[in-house]
Amino acid sequence: MEDIAKTKSSRKSCLKWIIIPSLFLLLAELIIIINTELVPEVTYTFEEHCAAYNYTTETYSVITDDGYILTLYRIPNTGSPVLFLHGLIVTSNSFILNQCTKGPAFVLADQGFDVWLGNFRGTYLSRNHTTLSIDSDEFWDFTFEELYTYDIKAFVKFIKTKSKYQKVSAIGHSMGGVLLSLGLALYPDVYTPDIGLGILFGTPPGKMNCSSYYINYICTDTMQFIFKFLGIKIYMDHIKSTFMAKLSVNFPIISQMLVREIMDFDINGGNTKDIAVYTYRNLGGINVNVLEHMRQFVYNKLENPKRYDYGDKKKNIMKYGSEEVPLIYYKNITTNVAIFNVEYDSIIPREDSLLLKSLIPSSKLVFYKDDYKIDHAGLITSCEQPQMKDVIDVIRLYES
Ligand SMILES: *[C@@H]1O[C@H](CO)[C@@H](O)[C@H](O)[C@H]1NC(C)=O
Ligand SMILES: *[C@@H]1O[C@H](CO)[C@@H](O)[C@H](O)[C@H]1NC(C)=O
Ligand SMILES: *[C@@H]1O[C@H](CO)[C@@H](O)[C@H](O)[C@H]1NC(C)=O
Ligand SMILES: *[C@@H]1O[C@H](CO)[C@@H](O)[C@H](O)[C@H]1NC(C)=O
Repeated sequence: MEDIAKTKSSRKSCLKWIIIPSLFLLLAELIIIINTELVPEVTYTFEEHCAAYNYTTETYSVITDDGYILTLYRIPNTGSPVLFLHGLIVTSNSFILNQCTKGPAFVLADQGFDVWLGNFRGTYLSRNHTTLSIDSDEFWDFTFEELYTYDIKAFVKFIKTKSKYQKVSAIGHSMGGVLLSLGLALYPDVYTPDIGLGILFGTPPGKMNCSSYYINYICTDTMQFIFKFLGIKIYMDHIKSTFMAKLSVNFPIISQMLVREIMDFDINGGNTKDIAVYTYRNLGGINVNVLEHMRQFVYNKLENPKRYDYGDKKKNIMKYGSEEVPLIYYKNITTNVAIFNVEYDSIIPREDSLLLKSLIPSSKLVFYKDDYKIDHAGLITSCEQPQMKDVIDVIRLYES
């Protein structure tokens, strides 16, 4: 009896010598993290960032036909208008954030284009509605459907009221490109008169042979189950606290690995300041119902993707006039389209690029290149921005 008691107490004192110093180290680390100084750029708003780089901005609230109030930024100039549409989980900040050189929005602004940047509903920059409360389920009841039907339309119509040009060029990156291409295919009568050229950056067709673990993992049933179970409405939201940015500065290698896996991009040169800026400013939040639409998109494995399946016959009939969910045919596109895909893309391999190329009417495909030597996010964050010269040339050819 005595022996057992002795071992127990010696184990206890042994544990004490591990736990106490560990807690002490953790506390010290926490103090270091909290006291980390961040460059002011980390917490700049879109407007502040532009001002720091000497670009003037205008900020507009645009109301969609279904009452959502969206933030649309402008870097005004006298040239033809170009609208940027951002990707999954980010906001329009993604097009100006480049810490290595000028991001695509600034490159086009320097060329005299009238640059516009939309923020889709549900991102932290576009959370308001004329009648719905943002805490209601109704507010969050939207998928890709509403983004390509209402949001893109509202941005384009608004730009037309402020520009003397006939047409807008639109550039969608990743999810922004998916939404743009599907919008053009579904509503040619709405978009073709106003959009002169649709530019798809890092955009897949309906069938995706995506090798990114991260994308495949967020598109699983399990993730949707977890979201529903925990009542999560927004995934990867923007957070006001700078703790993560400070943490990333202190653990640059781990942060770099995470950023590479999550956003498919390499932080050029591994500058810790850059990591903090990207960690804090790149996230915008995505509605989990939009992710559910993406899950269907990925799992249906259809060249021409299906519209959203409400999983309920009555709802599908109400929306589509039939139980069967209709397909979206790329061949219905009547707008000029330019495809810019990249060589080191773990989300969209070349075979997917080529498939998209083959599905869009050849008379409408005005530019195709899939071998820029960058990765998926490199289209907005690489140091070279090798695609931008071609982008400028193709916009100039089709602006009107
Ligand atoms: C912005 O303009 C100011 C004043 O002309 C200049 O000092 C500064 O270097 C400029 N900043 C950039 C990023 O070009
Ligand atoms: C939301 O929009 C309403 C107008 O419908 C406006 O009065 C209100 O200030 C807006 N709220 C925010 C947080 O911008
Ligand atoms: C999809 O990708 C895998 C691995 O990258 C490859 O082995 C396979 O052939 C691809 N499938 C198609 C249909 O191209
Ligand atoms: C798109 O193409 C499909 C199949 O050819 C056709 O049934 C449908 O009516 C077309 N839609 C539009 C909007 O032109």
